[in-house]
Amino acid sequence: MTQKGIHGVWASRWTFVLAATGSAVGLGNIWKFPYMSGENGGGAFVLVYLVCICLIGLPVMMAEVLIGRRGRQSPINSMRFVTQEAGMHGIWTSIGWMGVIAGLLIMAFYSVVAGWALQYVWATASGVFTHMDPGQIGGHFSALLGNPSQLLVWHTIFSFLTAGVVALGVNRGLGAVANIMMPVLFLALLVLVGYSLLHGDFAAGFHFLFDFEIERLSWPGVLKAMGHAFFTLSLGMGAIMAYGAYMPAHASIARTVITVGILDTLVALTAGLAIFPIVFANPPLEPSAGPGLLFVSLPIAFAAMPWGAIFGTVFFILVSLAAWSSSVSLIEPGVAWLVESRKFRRPTATFLLTGIAWLLGISCVLSFNLWSEFKPALMLYKTPFDFLDFLTSQLMLPLGGLFIALFVGWCMRKAVVEREMDAEGHPIFDIWRFVVRFISPALVALVMILTLIDSF
Ligand code: TRP
Repeated sequence: MTQKGIHGVWASRWTFVLAATGSAVGLGNIWKFPYMSGENGGGAFVLVYLVCICLIGLPVMMAEVLIGRRGRQSPINSMRFVTQEAGMHGIWTSIGWMGVIAGLLIMAFYSVVAGWALQYVWATASGVFTHMDPGQIGGHFSALLGNPSQLLVWHTIFSFLTAGVVALGVNRGLGAVANIMMPVLFLALLVLVGYSLLHGDFAAGFHFLFDFEIERLSWPGVLKAMGHAFFTLSLGMGAIMAYGAYMPAHASIARTVITVGILDTLVALTAGLAIFPIVFANPPLEPSAGPGLLFVSLPIAFAAMPWGAIFGTVFFILVSLAAWSSSVSLIEPGVAWLVESRKFRRPTATFLLTGIAWLLGISCVLSFNLWSEFKPALMLYKTPFDFLDFLTSQLMLPLGGLFIALFVGWCMRKAVVEREMDAEGHPIFDIWRFVVRFISPALVALVMILTLIDSF
């Protein structure tokens, strides 16, 4: 086993932070977090989500980065390496396999939503929203969803964009994009929060997001919040493991991961604070509007503000870029494995896997129009789009995270883990290890079991 790896190493710890933040910050923060909070009771959902980030997300993320850096290869081969090193049964390698599959399943619906964002770059730039009232803006979104060929075009464009970067190699292709984009995206969100402060019902939005009303909470809601903590941190499927494999040997995993977690959470909360005041100031809109929430609320603001068409265009470009720097990490684990172990050329491997995700994605395109009533029992009476989201966020990612925590907590030798964390004799190390051994796995298992019981 080589310890250097064949994919290269990030230039510095900071490049890793940028790449991992690029992966973490995406549609999950700007599109999914607000609409899920809206559908699941606001503050109650937000609080559970924050608790899950702290007690499960961050500790498990450290574990995932650690395996990647120890193995220095694709997630599948890194898992194989640490499994052999620990003298454990080869079944643990399936964490890597499940991750590759989960990545493709997520990519299938992710690129469809990213396609909406691309369409909105176009629409905002051409000024269609400028003279629309909120009802017409909602109509624009419904019309887009009702048009499969248009959705397919944007889905295809986004798939190509993703494949392009992955084919070039994540090291070369991505650092640069993430570098400039992240701070600008954050600034744009802050400007929107400013707009909401001046023109939205800021108090109502704030209370909705941060008032904790326990009676709004159900076990399925808790599972959704926990699943979203995994989704938003790109956790549980090897993406962060793959990036960890490129991390310099002497960089503190704990500090790095906490930085990424804070940035990711800030972006999500800021997006919520930008969107909900606009929702409450425009009565036809509902917090529980579902996946369209971002796409109907913000254009209302862009229609009303001076220079709104320009600002809106920039905003949707930034959302698309954020989605782009996330989607590459969905494909990367599988590509890295094909290159390492099956001697594929990187571009071939990339187009093969992106092609599979693209094909699956067609079922998600159709979920909003021709197949909107296609909800087979096998898919738990959900459309393909909803089912893939459910299957990955609420099942595969939490399970992946559970096994990663168990592996690092119980299977790897303590001395190895301690050395890899660069934390010999540090008291915080013992606390983290305790959390990864007991708290995170117990919480994940408990939430999944109680949800299951609750659903019958
Ligand atoms: N975290 C990204 C977002 O919030 C999506 C994402 C990228 C992801 N890579 C992942 C989610 C791996 C789960 C697993 O938009």
